[in-house]
Amino acid sequence: MNRTVLIAGASRGLGLELAVQYAAEGWEVLAACRDPEEAHKWLPPSVKVLKLDLTSATSIGALAWELDEAPLDLLICCGGVYGAETDSFLAPGDDEFDRVMHTNVLGHARVIQAFAPCVVAARGMIVTLTSKMGSISETTGSGALAYRASKAALNIIAKAASNEFGPQGATVVTMHPGWVRTDMGGTEAPLTVIDAVEQIRGTLAGLGHSDNGRFIDFSGRSIDW
Ligand SMILES: NC(=O)c1ccc[n+]([C@@H]2O[C@H](COP(=O)([O-])OP(=O)(O)OC[C@H]3O[C@@H](n4cnc5c(N)ncnc54)[C@H](OP(=O)(O)O)[C@@H]3O)[C@@H](O)[C@H]2O)c1
Repeated sequence: MNRTVLIAGASRGLGLELAVQYAAEGWEVLAACRDPEEAHKWLPPSVKVLKLDLTSATSIGALAWELDEAPLDLLICCGGVYGAETDSFLAPGDDEFDRVMHTNVLGHARVIQAFAPCVVAARGMIVTLTSKMGSISETTGSGALAYRASKAALNIIAKAASNEFGPQGATVVTMHPGWVRTDMGGTEAPLTVIDAVEQIRGTLAGLGHSDNGRFIDFSGRSIDW
């Protein structure tokens, strides 16, 4: 039976490669992004490209209306922005803070609220791509405060979602995808996007309902909150 994945933020980097690999495996892929016409050029023809701006409640609502409660086996909350690349402690500016928190936190909270019932209907999985940089116990650095704060906030939102939708049949996991060579990860990152996504897919395929509420990395290793 065909499985369906909705990827929220699929125009570049990890989201794009997740769309490519899940499509190659025969999944029905719904790739949601800000500029569907541009993303279409990079995605296989079988992928359905949909409009989504994470910073707009209207856009998220319109996507939910378009998908019309169709069951989802997998929802991947992927899109994100980094903000200022500071190495030392520097409070973010108003605009930077608003943009990063709106995209990385509020956007995905709204996406989860809108599509969790579709995942519950399929007894499927919600995967939120956060970051080890949002782990309070594993954080060693002090810069990129807006990004760190946004990922810590997204972690608690994903954990709360696991409490709400886990008992209804969904499995909600929070995942650090590794340090990956994308526009965000940069050229020094050790993992290629192809390798990272292969590992992410392999790890997700091995998870079950007992993994609901976990914070893991791409290999399945548990990360302390
Ligand atoms: N790469 C790493 O090393 C790494 C490490 C830890 C966690 N992560 C997380 O993994 C996820 C994917 O990262 P990546 O490396 O693939 O980043 P990336 O290459 O910079 O791509 C970011 C993606 O997010 C989308 N996006 C940004 N704002 C959006 C909005 N308002 N609405 C819809 N889509 C939006 C972008 O779309 P546009 O093309 O429209 O801008 C793009 O598709 C992010 O959540 C990131 O925090 C990455």
